[in-house]
Amino acid sequence: MAASSSMAAEARGYAKVAKELEDSGELERARTLYLKAAKLYNEASKTTTDDTDRNIQRDLAEHLLERAQSIKRTQVQYSGAVKDNKTVGDESSLSNEDLFLKQVPEVGFADIGGLENVKEEIRKSIIYPFTHKELYKMYGQKAGEGILLYGPPGCGKTMMAKAAAKECSADFISVKTSSIVSKWVGASEKNIKQVFDTARSSGRAIIFFDEIDSIAVRRSEGEEYAKRVVNELLAQMDGVDTSHDDLLVLAATNEPWSIDPALRRPGRFSKLVFIPEPDMEARIAIFSMQLKKRPIADDVDVKELARITRSYSGADISAICKEAADIPLGEALRGGEPRKIKMQDFLQAIKQRKTSILSWYISAKDQIMRTGETDAFENILRREVDAGE
Ligand SMILES: Nc1ncnc2c1ncn2[C@@H]1O[C@H](COP(=O)(O)OP(=O)(O)OP(=O)(O)O)[C@@H](O)[C@H]1O
Ligand SMILES: [Mg+2]
Repeated sequence: MAASSSMAAEARGYAKVAKELEDSGELERARTLYLKAAKLYNEASKTTTDDTDRNIQRDLAEHLLERAQSIKRTQVQYSGAVKDNKTVGDESSLSNEDLFLKQVPEVGFADIGGLENVKEEIRKSIIYPFTHKELYKMYGQKAGEGILLYGPPGCGKTMMAKAAAKECSADFISVKTSSIVSKWVGASEKNIKQVFDTARSSGRAIIFFDEIDSIAVRRSEGEEYAKRVVNELLAQMDGVDTSHDDLLVLAATNEPWSIDPALRRPGRFSKLVFIPEPDMEARIAIFSMQLKKRPIADDVDVKELARITRSYSGADISAICKEAADIPLGEALRGGEPRKIKMQDFLQAIKQRKTSILSWYISAKDQIMRTGETDAFENILRREVDAGE
């Protein structure tokens, strides 16, 4: 028997044990054996003289390597929870650093192009309740209802949340949603409570759940632990009242219709604020901010750039500016004379990049119809979006 087939036989044995270990949750050992098996199949494929065997062994090596890598990814996802050899389910395993990032943000309203009506909405619902607490109390207005920012990707939701915290000098407590969810009984609720408890004990703070759809799915559709997460969020949010606490809750999502409707009732995330793609004025502002940082030739016409990027997101525009700058940079790196960025560079970058929001609108409209939330999200259904120039 050739060396190749004895290696393949050994590899098969390792792969079998690895699978059993993976099924019983011993991920690290499973990963090591998957890697061993992949390596052996790979060696075998190099020594065999049979073409069919070679192809099969290569495929198996690739497949087993992928399995090992996917275990690694799972472990990284939960790495916040695996500390000092404690398991995810360990009651005391998650520290504050695992659960959230606390910072005083650097971006303010001045860094956000356009979106003036959204800024005004945020001033009324987030900033004034903090800065004019007594007035709110006097008129018996319960301040501190949560706000849900929603809209197409890359249009400034995360940026707007950070800026809101900066404008009212609050700590920004950005929750790592992936660390919150634990499949172990009790841990997810405890994690959420820990975030709110810590926020209550600090000074003025905004808790921010980015991409909240990943943890607050409809209870009718989610798994058992997802239901517990929503219940705990509801309980914690019902307890927030800014006239007593110096605390507000903000969240962002691209799919507000997939969030449990109970979370959108009064007292919870009762205010939904739509953050649309930038209009002409906003695009001029975003381009101008991006151009300020770079050497720009006289022929660059910001208004024209804004005109031809209708339906592009803020993130698309940032990327276009970076890609335009890459053109003269590349030339200079190849020994050319450094030059300013010209209109032609921007036009080329725009030509090569498609808007990223069209597909969002198509799928959003479809999902709204499917969930029957046509009244709540009529603004999206009615919106006409096209690919621009
Ligand atoms: N109105 C804007 N003004 C200035 N820059 C913007 C604006 N909108 C988007 N950007 C740019 O796009 C980037 C992405 O924005 P942000 O992360 O806030 O989008 P988002 O709506 O949270 O997207 P996602 O849904 O993908 O999380 C920002 O870092 C910024 O560079
Ligand atoms: Mg975001």
